[in-house]
Amino acid sequence: MQRLAGGDGETDVSRAAASMGLSLTLSSNSITSLEDVMSVNQQIGSRTPFWFQLYLASKLELSIPLIKRAEATGYKALVLTVDTPMLGNRINDRQSPLILPPGLQLANIGKDYGKKSDKPTSNRTLMDARSARHAREIRRAIGDGTIGFLREHSKMKLILKGVMAPEDALLAIEYGADAIIVSNHGGRQLDCAPSTIQALPEIVAAVKGRIPVILDGGVRRGSDVFTAMALGADFVMVGRPALWGLAHNGSEGVETVINILERELSRTMSLSGAVGVHDICRASMRRSVEGRLSKI
Ligand SMILES: Cc1cc2nc3c(=O)[nH]c(=O)nc-3n(C[C@H](O)[C@H](O)[C@H](O)COP(=O)(O)O)c2cc1C
Repeated sequence: MQRLAGGDGETDVSRAAASMGLSLTLSSNSITSLEDVMSVNQQIGSRTPFWFQLYLASKLELSIPLIKRAEATGYKALVLTVDTPMLGNRINDRQSPLILPPGLQLANIGKDYGKKSDKPTSNRTLMDARSARHAREIRRAIGDGTIGFLREHSKMKLILKGVMAPEDALLAIEYGADAIIVSNHGGRQLDCAPSTIQALPEIVAAVKGRIPVILDGGVRRGSDVFTAMALGADFVMVGRPALWGLAHNGSEGVETVINILERELSRTMSLSGAVGVHDICRASMRRSVEGRLSKI
């Protein structure tokens, strides 16, 4: 729903990503259609893959058309979010329910939230404890051969987003996931969840390099990127910082945020003796963020 943050929403963010050679993962819940986002990538001629984030319907078959659309449009991976069988208890959202202004709708799943602008969204309804039944259905759907099902219906890579425990990382490998994203949904789901940087080392140790380990959550400085890579992440993703850039100055604002992160990362690398990203390791970390390491 990035148009709520500013400018042309997902179009601006994808333009910035494609121009900078960065990958982008588009949410199922975007206001801009997955086709329009991909056409921005194609117009710019970026070779960096875009990925599509999938929220499963409780009946798996209902997700097939969306999966097929994403694949036909050129998305290279499905990012299956596994931490949201129901929404977390978002107190702020209870106080001011999220309502899309008239005219805006979720383009990929065709829900016209604008129509009933005096009513909270179904997301708000999902927060209701009574939707535990829905949560159970989704959990069953995810646990019930979902990876096999998705493989049957698509050739896209499959990445599981929302892994926070080594045991789950091992299950992801066992079931054939191509990569995992260590994520706590930006702290928006379980309010007692640990930070992702805390969860990362144990997960990296369990995975042992068999699949890429990606991290998101709380990356605000280039030194956060550095810390995550030093602790074994293959790369990181950012959520809110891109939205702040978007709110500040559209596509250019997003580029500014990424440029700041890149400068900060380069400086942290130089000051800790890492010539290239492959030199970032625990030893280089000792020279820069030892204090932080002791807190992890
Ligand atoms: C406003 C907002 C909307 C989000 N929507 C989704 C979503 O639709 N699907 C999803 O998998 N994660 C969603 N997330 C979580 C992000 O994908 C990501 O895990 C998180 O924002 C990373 O943390 P950061 O914002 O600190 O970088 C959302 C986060 C925010 C802040």
